[in-house]
Amino acid sequence: MRQRGKFITLEGIDGSGKSTQLPRLVRYLRSRGVKLKVTYEPGGTRLGDRIRRILLSGKTSKLDAMAELALFYAARAQHIREVIEPALAAGQWVLSDRFSDASMAYQGYGRKLGRAAVDQFERAVCGRLKPDLTLVLLVDPAESLRRARARETRRNSTRGRFEAEAVAFHRRVQAGYRAIARREPRRVKLIKAGRGVGELQEELRRRVDALLRRAGASRRTGKKKR
Ligand code: TYD
Repeated sequence: MRQRGKFITLEGIDGSGKSTQLPRLVRYLRSRGVKLKVTYEPGGTRLGDRIRRILLSGKTSKLDAMAELALFYAARAQHIREVIEPALAAGQWVLSDRFSDASMAYQGYGRKLGRAAVDQFERAVCGRLKPDLTLVLLVDPAESLRRARARETRRNSTRGRFEAEAVAFHRRVQAGYRAIARREPRRVKLIKAGRGVGELQEELRRRVDALLRRAGASRRTGKKKR
């Protein structure tokens, strides 16, 4: 039987430097011979991209926090069925720019919906699907928000709904990521991002190497993983 692929997710608050690190990590994994599907949330499917426009647009006003959570999970359900599961089942690895931990951090902690509400959606939509490795970039929320907003200005786009949130919101989101990592230290790795691009990439690669070694070992022993 074909070995199931590994599922890696990259997380962090807005402006944490994910978009600089992600393509570099993709190049590295591919150079190591990994067949990799690269994807993102919200989105990754046609339906998901339509939902994304609603969720991120600064023009969407008065979106109830629970409605927001449900929309993220609606996009995720489609993303799992259409993209993530088929790739993993075919033995490909999947690297997703954000996944469920973003809902816990942003909606559970940032919007203060609480863990229970997010966990219920999580069980219904994701079932047993969990990333094998989640890399969370940690930054100073005030600094990263400045960066995220400067990026919006450069692109001449209107400020997105999340970039428009106050620093306090982004602090809660980052505290949420820390709490998730405390609960699941094996899966979730916190990585301090306020340093050079190269140095940070090195650490991401070290984390991924550990997963590559585990995958190699289970392939050799023929051990079936989940
Ligand atoms: P995006 O423009 O992709 O931001 P980034 O490049 O920082 O990832 O927008 C994604 C936004 O959606 C980001 O502010 C985080 C938010 N988000 C949630 O609030 N909940 C979620 O479940 C997901 C996937 C994203």
